[in-house]
Amino acid sequence: MGAELLQRTIYRSRPFGFDSAILDNILLFSRRNNERDGITGALICRHEIYLQLLEGPKDKVDALFNRISFDDRHLEVALLLSEDCSERLFPRWSMKHDPLQPWMWTRTEMESDGFLISRDSIMTVFEGLASEAS
Ligand SMILES: Cc1cc2nc3c(=O)[nH]c(=O)nc-3n(C[C@H](O)[C@H](O)[C@H](O)COP(=O)(O)O)c2cc1C
Repeated sequence: MGAELLQRTIYRSRPFGFDSAILDNILLFSRRNNERDGITGALICRHEIYLQLLEGPKDKVDALFNRISFDDRHLEVALLLSEDCSERLFPRWSMKHDPLQPWMWTRTEMESDGFLISRDSIMTVFEGLASEAS
C-alpha cells in the first residue's frame, strides 16, 4: 500500500443536552461510519466541551466535519486545526473516547470563553492520549 494522503482536523464545541445516552449514541454512529470511511480519531468530552480529532482521507474528513458542524447536539463548533499529515495518531481507533482530565489544560485555559488553548497544547494533549492508547 502506498502512503496515504491524510488530513487531520480538530475542532471544539459546546455540548447541547450532554448525557451518557447522547454520548453513547454519538459514539455508536461514529464508530460505524468512521470504519466505513477510513476515519480514526479521538473525542475528549465533559459536560461543557467536546474536543475532537478526526484523521483520514481528506474528502471523507471534510464531509464528516460538515455533517458534524450541522449537528444540533452541540453548539459553537469552532475549527482549531486542519492540516495534512503523514501518519495517524489513532490508527486503531475508529473513535477513541476520553473524559477531559486535569492534566490536559489549566483552569485558566479552560475558563476563558474562547478557550485559550494553543495549537501546541492541543497536539500535546492528543499525542499524550495516543501514546496511552497504543
Ligand atoms: C461531538 C460529536 C461528534 C461526532 N463525531 C462523529 C464521528 O466521528 N463520525 C460520525 O460519523 N459522526 C459523528 N457525529 C455525528 C454526526 O454529526 C452525524 O449525526 C452522523 O455522522 C450522521 O450519520 P448518518 O449519516 O449515519 O445518519 C458526531 C456528532 C457530535 C455531536
